[in-house]
Amino acid sequence: MALVKRAVALLTVMTLMLEVIHAAMYKVGDSAGWTTIGKIDYKQWSATKTFQVGDIILFEYNAQFHNVMRVTHAMYKACNTSAPLATYTTGNDSINIKTRGHHFFFCGVPGHCQAGQKVDINVLRRDGMAPTPSAASSVPSPPVPSAKVPGPAQSNAMPLKALKSPFGNIGLAMAVLATLVINFA
Ligand SMILES: *[C@@H]1O[C@H](CO)[C@@H](O)[C@H](O)[C@H]1NC(C)=O
Ligand SMILES: *[C@@H]1O[C@H](CO)[C@@H](O)[C@H](O)[C@H]1NC(C)=O
Repeated sequence: MALVKRAVALLTVMTLMLEVIHAAMYKVGDSAGWTTIGKIDYKQWSATKTFQVGDIILFEYNAQFHNVMRVTHAMYKACNTSAPLATYTTGNDSINIKTRGHHFFFCGVPGHCQAGQKVDINVLRRDGMAPTPSAASSVPSPPVPSAKVPGPAQSNAMPLKALKSPFGNIGLAMAVLATLVINFA
């Protein structure tokens, strides 16, 4: 019975943690913004950031002279503006990063991408975690709870920890908790 209470408490703590974690906003190019002036090294800018799912990427620029196109890796490399995945033109575009991996952007005005107005927002995949396109993957993963459960629960939780859950870490955490409740209720 004590363990069930412990499991419920753990679930409550996890829920609270998820609410506390919130997204960051990154303005591309910092104070310079999105421009060809000053030869800003957007690759360097991007390399110094640790992007996470849920972050907002803000492109601030003069909409008379620039725009933002989201493109594939091949288009990014070739500065190919013919078929962008998305185009933004307001001059103050905030883009919500919803998945891990690379997100490629450049300015679609002729010559600007070639001049270096391009940026790769890379949300790193964490070690040992399968990338999942499900809704669960858009939530930052909580610590694996099995490590915090003392006593006999450990032996039940450990094999689950090794599994790659199709529902991400949240699903895995739920599975661990369900196992605890079933075994000790
Ligand atoms: C640009 O991309 C389009 C669509 O993917 C493709 O058809 C075209 O051949 C590409 N152009 C160049 C110059 O790579
Ligand atoms: C651009 O939008 C952000 C929030 O989306 C806001 O904080 C900022 O003041 C805006 N900048 C301009 C120049 O409108």
